Amino acid sequence: MSHIRDTILVTGGAGFIGSNFVLGWIATGGSQVVNLDLLTYAGNAANLAPVQNGEEGDARYAFVRGDICDAELVGSLLRQHRPRAVVHFAAESHVDRSIVSPEAFIRTNVQGTFCLLEQARAYWSGLGDEEKKDFRFLHVSTDEVYGTLGRDEPAFCETTAYAPNSPYAASKAGSDHLARAYFHTFGLPVVTTNCSNNYGPYQFPEKLIPLMILNALEGKALPVYGDGKNVRDWLFVEDHCAAIRVVLERGRPGETYNVGGNSERANIDVVTAICDLVDELRPGLGRSRRTLIAFVADRPGHDRRYAIDAGKIARELGWKPAEGFESGLRKTVKWYLEHGDWVDSVRTGAYREWIEKNYAERERQGLGTRD
Ligand code: NAD
Ligand code: TYD
Repeated sequence: MSHIRDTILVTGGAGFIGSNFVLGWIATGGSQVVNLDLLTYAGNAANLAPVQNGEEGDARYAFVRGDICDAELVGSLLRQHRPRAVVHFAAESHVDRSIVSPEAFIRTNVQGTFCLLEQARAYWSGLGDEEKKDFRFLHVSTDEVYGTLGRDEPAFCETTAYAPNSPYAASKAGSDHLARAYFHTFGLPVVTTNCSNNYGPYQFPEKLIPLMILNALEGKALPVYGDGKNVRDWLFVEDHCAAIRVVLERGRPGETYNVGGNSERANIDVVTAICDLVDELRPGLGRSRRTLIAFVADRPGHDRRYAIDAGKIARELGWKPAEGFESGLRKTVKWYLEHGDWVDSVRTGAYREWIEKNYAERERQGLGTRD
């Protein structure tokens, strides 16, 4: 029997969180990484340029373009690389797209996770007893599976009942249930993390923070859904990556860990903070960027508030977020202002079509500008 290696298999490592994770893994002295990513609209192999194989690259990094729904490919990668862990980020991740076209979410998030779990189970079953104990399947999930909170309700904890409200959240909840079942039924050492909203470098500019930074920079309207009072908890992406490393090393199989930033903010406050930062760092628009704020038609089924109780991961594994929201947001705004080439490379024709589809009708039904 050939032995397990120190390698990890990452899925979705060319996306926002996955690429931050792979870069951080290599930078902090991690082992070999195989990154399986389909390079959908949200994936960008250039995010990994610093570690890409080649003269300047890192020999510990290998990229495979492929689909997590492809059982044969996943099975052969596991047999070839013999990883000690799978870290599963790959997903369709944007709520608004799940409302316009839910099918891809069921395929990738539910079927794709099922395929990975099945192939991981087959590979893991053939390991020796010690190696079986050491293996981990780390399933990266979201706080959106818990549904929505009222203003004064306590934050989500690991025992909060699942109540997903969007097709995205429902598809992630489905994948979480499958991950749980593979632990309980087959003993596969699965650990799940449920994290709040991430922000930071390399986030695709369809999500709130990068979209608002770029629109503010370019003097375009800043489309705030509904009354702008929906609340999200924000976590700097590098803190999320650190949490995943900790859970991978010390998390207990069969457990779930909530990961959050202790930074609840109303959307309108996030957008005004971005306006002020862009005004400070790129003056010259001639008026405050706050005047660009436009209240537009709300997202159907829009969850009002998310909040995370991250006490379990703090107590059991000693993880806490290191970055505050104001300093993390400043770093993020600076990153986008300094990476115009990256921004141009991801805003393709398909991106522009999405922006037109999502915002044209909303703006027509819009609720008006702020001033
Ligand atoms: P993302 O959309 O930026 O990246 C997803 C990546 O998965 C892309 O590189 C894409 O090419 C790849 N991918 C999609 N379908 C694939 C398939 N069928 N096979 C292989 N690769 C495929 O997503 P993200 O924001 O980096 O999120 C990563 C994970 O973290 C997701 O599972 C998401 O649900 C979860 N999460 C995200 C957040 C957040 O705020 N972004 C918060 C909590 C949890
Ligand atoms: P988003 O970044 O899509 O993350 P999620 O829906 O997973 O929380 O949105 C964050 C919040 O910002 C959410 O309440 C919806 C709101 N939002 C807007 O007001 N305008 C926008 O253009 C976008 C993309 C989001």
